[in-house]
Parts: sequence; structure tokens; C-alpha cells
Amino acid sequence: MVRKKDENSARYNQLEDGVSRAKPILHQHAPEIQPFGKIARLPIALDEVVCAKSIENLNQLLADTMTLRDMYKKHHWQVAGITFYQLHLLFDKHHGEQDELVDTIAERIQLLGGISLAMAADVAETTSIPRPPRGREEVPVQISRLLEAHEILLKEARAMARQADDDGDDGTNDLIVSDLIRSNELQVWFLAEHLVAAPLLHADQAKAAVQR
Ligand SMILES: [Fe+2]
Repeated sequence: MVRKKDENSARYNQLEDGVSRAKPILHQHAPEIQPFGKIARLPIALDEVVCAKSIENLNQLLADTMTLRDMYKKHHWQVAGITFYQLHLLFDKHHGEQDELVDTIAERIQLLGGISLAMAADVAETTSIPRPPRGREEVPVQISRLLEAHEILLKEARAMARQADDDGDDGTNDLIVSDLIRSNELQVWFLAEHLVAAPLLHADQAKAAVQR
């Protein structure tokens, strides 16, 4: 038995010969190279105090955008009713656009020398958007919830864009105005029109007669 074990071990060593440099080195640990909240400045001609403020604001927008993005996917999966198909597609389109915004915001935080929030637990602790239930909701409730989330984002985004402008952080101002605010406003329009009680087949003749 012992002999068999030795033979196996020798064979194993033969197989290992010459490949040690090709083997992955697993289970490595080390302290972080940059703790959250600290800035590793890049030569972008922006004051560190300005970078710090923009990073803080952008991380708030990032957490809220990630939450809104995920809410779109939740509603894409859970939508029900006669408008299922169009809303299933619309929610997924908006999800994709929010996902692009997430990447744009996160990468600006990094280039400002900061650290972007990334993990769900950190996002949940930071977001200003109320947590939806796990269960399914009716379409009007889904859309109302999305509209409320958009408005929270837009309100804080406008204030943060003004702050970046005042501080001379043109790149952050441009990102918030050109990318985030414009995309969110457009998505609000596409959603809100679904909550207009317009007749589907028959014009409302009774109301038309009153207006004449
Ligand atoms: Fe899908």
C-alpha cells in the first residue's frame, strides 16, 4: 500500500516537471492598493478637492443608476397583461441604456482618481431609490415606480451638474447633462405616455360632445 502511494507520488512529480511556471498561483491575498474614499490623483489639471466632490456625487448617481437599471430588468421579466410584449421589449431597451450609463459614470469616477461602487450590497446601502417588493406588480404600478426613480435621479443629477459646473469640472458636468439627464428625460417620456388614459378603439364621443 505504501509502495503504491510512493509510485503515485513519483508519477505525479514527473507530470509536474517543467510546467510549474504555467500553473496558476491560487488563493492569493494582499491589502487593498487603494482604500475606498481615498484619491489616487491623475494628471488631469483638476484640484483634488474638486475631484473628491465629483467622485462623491458620481458614486451617488452610480448607485441610483444601477438600482434603476436592475428595476428595469425586474420589470422586463415580471411584466404581465395585454401590453406584455411591447413593455417587455421597452423595459429591456431602457435597461441596456442604463447599463451603458453605469459604465460611463463608473469609469469617470476611476479617471478622477476615485473608486466606483461595484457590488450589490454597497449599492443597496447607498441608493436613494426606494426598494421595490420581490413579487410581481401591475403594469401601472411598475411604470409609476420607474417614473419615481427617474425623478429622484434627475433631481439630484441637476444639482450635481450645477455643482460640477461651478467647480470647473467640465467633464463631469458634460457627462451628467449630455448622457445622464438627457437619457433619463427621454425614458421618462416613453414611460409616462403609457399612463395616459387614451381610448384604444373608440373615441370618447361623450366628452367630445361636451367640449363642442
Ligand atoms: Fe430578456
